This record gives sequence, C-alpha cells and structure tokens, in this order.
Amino acid sequence: MGRYFYTTPIYYVNDVPHMGHAYTTLNGDALARWRRLHGDEVFYLTGTDEHGLKVQRAAEQNGLSPQEQADRTSKRFREAWDLLDIAYDDFIRTTEPRHHTAVQTLLERCYENGYVYKDTYQGAYCVSCEAYYAEADLIDGNCPIHGFPVEQMSEDNYFFRLSAFRDRLLEWFEDVPDNITPERYRNEARALVRGGLEDLSITRTSLQWGIPVPWDSKHVFYVWYDALTNYATAAGYGTDEDRFATWWPAVRHLLGKDIIRFHCVYWPAMLMAAGVEPMPRFHVHGWLLVSGAKMAKTSVVQIAPRDLADSIGVDGLRYSVLRDNPFGPDSDFSYEALVQRCNSDLANGLGNLLQRVTTIVARSDGSVGTAPDPGSPLAATAASAYEATAAAWARVQPSVALEETWRLVRETNEYLQDRQPWKLEAGAELDTVLGDALEALRIVAVLAHPAIPRSCAEVWRRIGLDGDPAQARLPEAARWGQYPAGRTVTLGDPLFPRVAVD
Ligand code: ME8
Ligand code: MG
Repeated sequence: MGRYFYTTPIYYVNDVPHMGHAYTTLNGDALARWRRLHGDEVFYLTGTDEHGLKVQRAAEQNGLSPQEQADRTSKRFREAWDLLDIAYDDFIRTTEPRHHTAVQTLLERCYENGYVYKDTYQGAYCVSCEAYYAEADLIDGNCPIHGFPVEQMSEDNYFFRLSAFRDRLLEWFEDVPDNITPERYRNEARALVRGGLEDLSITRTSLQWGIPVPWDSKHVFYVWYDALTNYATAAGYGTDEDRFATWWPAVRHLLGKDIIRFHCVYWPAMLMAAGVEPMPRFHVHGWLLVSGAKMAKTSVVQIAPRDLADSIGVDGLRYSVLRDNPFGPDSDFSYEALVQRCNSDLANGLGNLLQRVTTIVARSDGSVGTAPDPGSPLAATAASAYEATAAAWARVQPSVALEETWRLVRETNEYLQDRQPWKLEAGAELDTVLGDALEALRIVAVLAHPAIPRSCAEVWRRIGLDGDPAQARLPEAARWGQYPAGRTVTLGDPLFPRVAVD
C-alpha cells in the first residue's frame, strides 16, 4: 500500500473561483481518487491564501475587513469544490491558528540556522503577483505576467539567504530525476537555479494583514512565505510531529506554471534552511487559454465552474475538462469543445452503451443480468485498457488515462454493433453478449470513477451492483469475469443527455 499527499495551490481570496482554479483542483481530485481505488492512504489538500496586500486591497474595495473578505471568498471556494464533487481531505485557510504556528516555527528555524538577516529593500512590486521584480524582468515597465504598471516600494525587511542554496538545489536536481514533471518545467526551474539566486525579502512593515514575525513584531511575513508553508501546516508541522513524519515524505504538489519559481526554487530552499526533509515532488501544468488569453481573474474572461456545470452537468464538466486539457502543456479552452466531448464520449459513448444493455435486459424475464464469458474478446481489451489507464495516471496524465479507459467503452459498443443482441432470441448467445457488456460496464465504472464519480455510482446501481465503485479495489477489480449473474438491472433515463451547442 502506498501513501499519497496531493496538494493544490491555495487560491487567493481577492476574487471568486474560476475554471483555472477548477482545473488544478479537478486534476488533484481525480489523482487522489485513483490512488484511493488502490487502497492507498491518500491525503488531498486544498485551501485558500488569505493574507497580503492583494487581499487587503480587495477588502478595502468591497468595504470589508480583510477577515470578512477572506471568510466570504473562502466559502465560495468550498462551495465550488462541493459543487464539483471534489473529495478533499482538508481545506486549509492561512488565517487559522495552526497555520500561524507552523509559519512561525518554520521561519524561526530558518532564522536560528542563520539563513535570515535584516536589510533595506527597494524595488518594483506587482500587487497582483505579490512579488518584487528585477527591472530587467519588466516589460515596458509593466509586470511580465499581468501587464500592469508595477509600484516602487522601499522598506526595512528581513531577508532569506536564498543565494546560499544554489549548490544544494542543483544537487537535488541531480539526485532526483523526476523531482518536477513534466520535463519542460523541470528544465525551467533548473535554469532559474543555475541563472543565479538573489536573497529574498520575506517580511513587510508596510502591511498589517499577515502573520507576525516572532522575533520582531513590527514585521509580518510576506504572503508567499506564509502561503508556501500551508502544505507543511496541513501535514502537522509545528503541531503534530508524528503526523508530519507520516505524510511529508508522500507530498506531491500540483501547480500551474505561473508559480514555478516560488514552489520549485524558493520552497525547497526554505525547507532546506529549516532542516525539513525530504524535498517534495512537483507536477506542473500549463494554462487554460480562452482565445489565447489566460483565463485568470485579471483577464476579461471569467468563467465560473457553476455556469458550465449548469449546462453540461457536473460530470460532463469534470470529464471534458480532464479529457480535453492534457496536464502539462497550455490548452485551448472552449465551451464548444466541452459540449462536443460530452456528446461524443458520454452521451454517445458510455451513456449509449448503458442504455442499450439495460434496455435489452429490462425486456427479459425478471430483468436480471447474466454472467460474462471468460473467453470473451473483450477480456483482453479490458486488461490492456486497465494497464494503459494505470500507467497514464501514474505519469499524471489524466487525459491519456481517460482516453485509454474509453477504448473499452468504444470496443464494447462495437462488439454490440457486431453481435446485434437486439436481434437475438432469448438463449445462450444473447446471455453471453449481455454478460460481456455488463462486465465491461462494471470495469468502466471502476476505471472512470476518478473522473465521473456520480455517474459511475449510477452505472453501478443500474447494473445491479451493491455499494459504490469507490469501494472497489484495483487491480483486482479490473480482472475480467466478476460480474455476477442474477442481479436486477434497471432501465433509467439516459445518463448523459445530449447537450445542444447554442
Ligand atoms: O497563485 N489555467 O493563487 P491564485 C490553469 N495564492 N490553471 C490556472 C489558471 C489558468 N488559466 N489560472 C489559475 C496563487 N490557475 C497563490 C498560490 S500556493 C502556496 C499560493 C490555477 O489564486 C493554477 O493552479 O492566483 C495556478 O497555479 C493557480 O490557479 C493560481 O491561483
Ligand atoms: Mg494568480
């Protein structure tokens, strides 16, 4: 049995959830569910990033205190994740006491170990990024990410001696060839380290909305050092050392490529400075792009998960997002593509398969299912679909995993097309064809559960099985031949109605 601790970035509470956030969170949920299907111990963490200037300013604009702003928006994120059936194990808020303890403990260790010192900082600051930029990184004086003008800031700060970690970080890249996947982002992070590391200003005096520096109460920690520590907090750092020792070695961070520098360079260095081991692993993805524009809070395009779920269903949204936007590269995101994917793979694919099989069984005496043929041509398809699906999840490629699982859906539909059970008389041949199709549906319901948990539970129920595919255990559950004869099969409304493109 393995142990997996998956995390998403914690999202800023200056604005409400959009599809970019949903993308990371859905991928994490699906990965976590896939591991749970194997009986692994899983801890899936998400949450909200609640301190800093950006949140303080949003609160001012809304006529709220920062705490009220954080409370309201954090709730919106939890509502969005509930709507999308995100089975997180913990939702961390950086305003919680446990997090204050962890941040103060971690940074105090860095201080005691000699990696924090005091100096004056002056530089160009982007409030949207909550980050200082070197003049050379600006584009026409504007933030390279947001394109907004930066602000000149100057303050007495504590600095983190990032420059001391270049060699150790490079050794880490040497020692762990898959510390960051996909490879392109590993190369990007390594180039940042090689390019030279300047010390980082990690505290602010100009801001109140943050976690106080334990050894100098005029300062609060800069939001990013507070935020990164959330992963350690949730694992028990500073509050429950046994728990931390259990979960920390299993940590895998999912994140968008916009925050590689913070996660893949600064965070490992902070952990090294505080004496925390081992280093996390990172799975980085690209941007969802709407007509070429980043679908961020700061862009014109804002798509709320609820709006899409209302028109294509929660599982329609979950499936098409995971299937159509490979984890890694940037991808084009369009409503038309989502609808098309739902119609082809869900309505015409899995939905049609379920409807055909349950319709025929429902016509028979007692509506009971029959057993599969051990020598069915679909047995080999099911075995290879499982192997390929499992390999893709292990490589953090949900879109490929679903493509492989749907090979079994497609080949089962083709098998029915070929055998024409709707034309067969009652008898052994019909029983075999239906038993094979029911068995394929059983296996698909398990393999597709990480992406479309609600629909798979419904397939399970309609083919007469007890419980929920979430309780199945892989790889055993993928073995051909387990669908039991004699279960009552239910014919219902089409599971995935076709969606009109309007
Ligand atoms: O950066 N495509 O929070 P944030 C894909 N609080 N993913 C996207 C996306 C897009 N267009 N837009 C956003 C922060 N994301 C910090 C993180 S973690 C210690 C602190 C996703 O609210 C993606 O995962 O700006 C990205 O990394 C994250 O949202 C940024 O969310
Ligand atoms: Mg952002």
